[in-house]
Amino acid sequence: MSEKKFELTDLSTGKKSVAEVKNGTLGPSVLSVANLNKEHGLFTFDPGFMATASCESKITFIDGDEGVLLHRGIPIEQLAEKSNFLEVAYLLINGELPTNDQIGEFTHAIQYHTMINESLLRFFNGFQYNAHPMAMLSGVVASMAAFYHDSMDIHNPRHREIFAHRIIAKIPTIAAAAYKHALGQPFVYPRNDLDYCSNLLHMFFAVPCEQYNVDPVTAQALDLLFILHADHEQNASTSTVRLAGSTGANPYAAISAGISALWGPAHGGANEAVLAMLEQIGTVENVPKFLAKAKDKNDNFRLMGFGHRVYKNFDPRATIIRAMCHKVLAKLGKSDNPLFELALKLEEIALKDEYFVERKLYPNVDFYSGIIYSAIGIPQSMFTVMFAIARTVGWVAHWQEMIADPAMKISRPRQLYTGSPRRDYVEMSKR
Ligand code: CMC
Repeated sequence: MSEKKFELTDLSTGKKSVAEVKNGTLGPSVLSVANLNKEHGLFTFDPGFMATASCESKITFIDGDEGVLLHRGIPIEQLAEKSNFLEVAYLLINGELPTNDQIGEFTHAIQYHTMINESLLRFFNGFQYNAHPMAMLSGVVASMAAFYHDSMDIHNPRHREIFAHRIIAKIPTIAAAAYKHALGQPFVYPRNDLDYCSNLLHMFFAVPCEQYNVDPVTAQALDLLFILHADHEQNASTSTVRLAGSTGANPYAAISAGISALWGPAHGGANEAVLAMLEQIGTVENVPKFLAKAKDKNDNFRLMGFGHRVYKNFDPRATIIRAMCHKVLAKLGKSDNPLFELALKLEEIALKDEYFVERKLYPNVDFYSGIIYSAIGIPQSMFTVMFAIARTVGWVAHWQEMIADPAMKISRPRQLYTGSPRRDYVEMSKR
């Protein structure tokens, strides 16, 4: 695998060592520094993982300079146009596109695991009506471990598969229960005759006293948004799932940790923050004032939905979502959506601004997703929950890949200690 080698020299002692370069199939190679500590007594120092590959993976590839995103080698644009969410889930988890029989079996396994234990449902009564749904989601997902003791041996491939089916099937049911709890409406049981997104919409919006028919345009829009959010290589929440899972913790605990990491506004919480920001900006006339705030180092306001650690060019998902916004709003008869108009104008102005150009700050996946969620009736507080439902398949794929690797090790980073040197305890009377 290795072609190039690097020679590392300690300039103070002249001691040399050789570091191996590992090449992937695409993208930058990596310098293997595993022996650095043994040979030179040094650790690498890279806060925020700006230049660190934390693992080897075959699932997703991103070229941030070119705006490329591939799942198992297949461009996101092709998946968005030709595939559907459950097929993408199968691809991410199993590595190949499914045959007809394989997708049939997979869909059946997901559709027939949608119900949650009634005791789990009662957990929601312990939450205040105004609890944030992400808090309920992470808590209830972690609690799932209490129900499946007999099928949580992480070293058993069949147990891992059952876990994958269960979590992908049940997370929309848990999300819908959180939504209904906030509304004070009765929980709506899943319908296994509906496809994944139609069932989710049914559980969200149906009420026992009325007939609810899922709008196919809405279900299709949701399915596309889920494809676009399904995976994004070693992002903060996926790395959290891997780190938690590397301890041998049960997979529900690992996914719950991922949900918590996703919640932050620099990550999945940005979709909720974008809509709040657009509402705060209000009109196009206010855009220059808010851009000035975003550029002011003494102001912690950031243009939400802008910038990305990896993409220094257009986020390909944002390009697809922007086009989708036009279509979905037109199909739903909401073309004159003022927030969408404002977002388009904000993007146009920011992309001409030297500050954003110099720093290569482009709209990311979250800049437009909230506008679609809003248009299809999903409330702002549920936006990040939607992201979590979709990203669950990515988390599962990465967790499975890691656990199945015989070379897996617990993730245990080191540090540069800058605290006090050794000192003696001082008795209370002498302080
Ligand atoms: N508004 C204003 N300035 C920004 C922004 C922004 N949204 N993003 C980055 N910058 C500036 C930042 O101040 C810094 O400037 P300088 O070099 O003068 O100090 C420079 O651009 C580089 O920023 P950084 O914070 O060092 O970059 P990062 O890679 O650590 O952060 C980010 C990436 C996504 C956290 C950041 O761009 C951000 O906070 N964006 C807004 C939140 C957001 O939309 N997050 C969703 C990310 S996409 C969904 C997902 O994958 O989770």
